[in-house]
Amino acid sequence: TRQPDVRIIEVAPRDGLQNLKQLVPLGVKVELIQRLAETGLKDIEATSFVSPKWVPQLADGHEVMQESLRFSKSQPGMGSLRFPVLAPNAKGLQRAHAAGVKEIVVFCSATEAFSKSNQNCTIDEAIAQARAVTKDALALGIMVRGVVSCIFSDPFTGPTAPSEVLRRVQQFIDMGCYEVGLGDTLGVGTPKDTQTLLEVLLRDIPADKLAGHFHDTYGQGVGNVYRAYEMGLRVFDSSVAGLGGCPYAPGAKGNVSTEDVVYTLEKAGINTGVDLDKLVKVGQWISEQLGIPYGSRVGAALASK
Ligand code: HMG
Ligand code: MG
Repeated sequence: TRQPDVRIIEVAPRDGLQNLKQLVPLGVKVELIQRLAETGLKDIEATSFVSPKWVPQLADGHEVMQESLRFSKSQPGMGSLRFPVLAPNAKGLQRAHAAGVKEIVVFCSATEAFSKSNQNCTIDEAIAQARAVTKDALALGIMVRGVVSCIFSDPFTGPTAPSEVLRRVQQFIDMGCYEVGLGDTLGVGTPKDTQTLLEVLLRDIPADKLAGHFHDTYGQGVGNVYRAYEMGLRVFDSSVAGLGGCPYAPGAKGNVSTEDVVYTLEKAGINTGVDLDKLVKVGQWISEQLGIPYGSRVGAALASK
């Protein structure tokens, strides 16, 4: 089997669930991660180590992580799974480390209003915490990825200047993040917006340091992934069944669905390493578990064939 041409980071267990009011049972979360792994996905954002007061849904991060690691160690062919988790502050890192985490995600907003809403601090304060966490994580042998939110627009104050995104991406790289995800938290950007932003970023940042994290509120997710791919990006965050959304970003909807991304890329001859038929079954299953309609366009089309 040939190596995948892209790395898809499946974010449903984290971004996909964090916004749901009804608490999802631990067993469903763990089964979701296992089923996703069985489709060929290698990178699965498992949970967050944020304040459980802020995101009650992910308060069971320790158990989710332990079960996922047990699965990875015990199942043939699953040893290379990676389970990045969000950890914005010292307490998050401490909890992640105690749960056996090998990769964390630090994050900030490119805009002040969302920073205040999501992390209760200024962007510079979030960056300072991320810097301290990154230093400590690297010393523990934990890899660190950065994510910058609101790359196109802030839910409270409107459009984001590309120069503000560049500044934060650069700070994450300088502090030691191996890669930085570009988060369209609101899912408002179009392929043209992606192009305009990447034209600015790629003057200073190599494409292999960047990843796309597109929400799909306006149905632009796949277009944004494809435009970013054409401009050299090879890493994309996406969510099975298009689950997702941030509780502190009013108006934000689900992530671009992994089924849609896999379909689009595979049709272009780009190997994702993911078994789409198996993935559609996971998408149907989790939608049933959550009692919601199946939200992937590709998934729904393939499921009804
Ligand atoms: P705060 O209330 O300002 O902080 O929250 P605090 O330091 O005063 O702590 C408050 C309480 O939380 C304290 O407990 C802390 O111990 C506890 P108390 O003394 O009241 O009992 N606490 C923690 N507990 C467990 N783990 C922790 C932790 N930290 C503090 N890590 C804070 C500040 C940053 C903690 C809070 O605002 C928070 O958790 N924010 C995260 C919200 C979040 O997870 N948002 C969604 C993820 S980001 C996203 O979705 C965007 C993304 O997908 C990209 C995109 O789409 O653009 C990544
Ligand atoms: Mg997100």
